[in-house]
Amino acid sequence: MTISSALNWAQVELKKSKINSAGLDAELILSFLLKKDRSFLLAHPDIKLTPIQAKKFFLMIKKRSHNYPLAYLIKQKPFYNLNLYVDERVLIPRPETEMLVELAIALIKKYNLKKIADIGTGSGAIALALKKELPRLTVYGTDISKKALEVAQRNAHRLKLHINFKQGDLLKPLRDKKIDLAVANLPYLAPSYFRQGAKEIKYEPKKALLAKKQGLEYYQSVIKQMRILKQPPAFIIFELDPRNIFNFKKWLINSQNIKPGNININKDLSKKNRFLTIQLK
Ligand SMILES: C[S@@+](CC[C@H](N)C(=O)[O-])C[C@H]1O[C@@H](n2cnc3c(N)ncnc32)[C@H](O)[C@@H]1O
Repeated sequence: MTISSALNWAQVELKKSKINSAGLDAELILSFLLKKDRSFLLAHPDIKLTPIQAKKFFLMIKKRSHNYPLAYLIKQKPFYNLNLYVDERVLIPRPETEMLVELAIALIKKYNLKKIADIGTGSGAIALALKKELPRLTVYGTDISKKALEVAQRNAHRLKLHINFKQGDLLKPLRDKKIDLAVANLPYLAPSYFRQGAKEIKYEPKKALLAKKQGLEYYQSVIKQMRILKQPPAFIIFELDPRNIFNFKKWLINSQNIKPGNININKDLSKKNRFLTIQLK
C-alpha cells in the first residue's frame, strides 16, 4: 500500500462514518505514524508503507471512525501559542478556552497582576499559555487528578516553562499563597447535557467534564473556598456553560453578596456568553 492509496482508503472510511474533516484527519494520522510532516506525504505519494505501518494505520483509522478523538490518536493539540501533548488522562483543550487566556492577559496587563492560579489545570493549557506569553508571572496550577498533573508536568518540561503544579481540591493546595487572579475552566456539564454532547466526549475523563447542581458544583465550591486563602484574589475569570452562566451570576449576587457591577460576562467567538469575570476588590 502506498501513501496515496492509504490516504484514499482512509478518507473513504472516515467519510462513511461521517467524520467531517476526513481528508485532514487521515493525513495527520499518517504523518504522525511516519514521523513526517504533511507536505512530505503530498510530495511522496508513491512511497510504500511497511506491513507494520499499514497495520497500525488501519487500526488508527478504525478507532477514528468510531469517533475516538484525533488529538488522542496523534497525542497533540494546538492551543493558543502552544502545541500540547495530550492523552486520555486529560480533557482535550478547547478552542473557546483560548479566549479565556486572552481575557486573562488583558486583565493582567491592565492591573499589573503578578500571581496567577489556574484551578483544574488539566493538560496545563491555560497556565502554560499565560506563562509563555508573560514569562515574569508566577503561575500555579491545581488539579484533583494526579494523572492529569503528570500530563501537565510533561508539557511544562517539554516547553521549558515553570509552573507550580499542586494536587488537590480546587483552591485548597493554595491556602498559604497570595493570588492576584484565579482562572478556571472546571467541569461544567450537567449530566443531561453530557448525554446529548458530541460523540467524542465519551472518550474524555468524566471527572473533567461532569458537574452536579446543573453544572455549577465546582464553581460554587471555588467561591466558597476563597475564604481559606491568605488573601482572596482581586479578580476571577471562569469559563462556564452558556446555558447556565446567568444562574451562576444570580447565585453570586444572591448568596455571596457580590455586587452586580463587579460581575462581567463575555462572549466566546460564536457569540455565546461563556466567560464570567468577577472583581473582588
Ligand atoms: C474541563 S477540564 C479543563 C482542563 C483545562 N483547564 C483546560 O481548559 O483544558 C477540568 C479539570 O478540572 C479537574 N478537576 C475536577 N475536579 C476538581 C477539583 N475538585 N479540584 C481540582 N481540579 C478538579 C479535572 O481533573 C480536569 O482536569
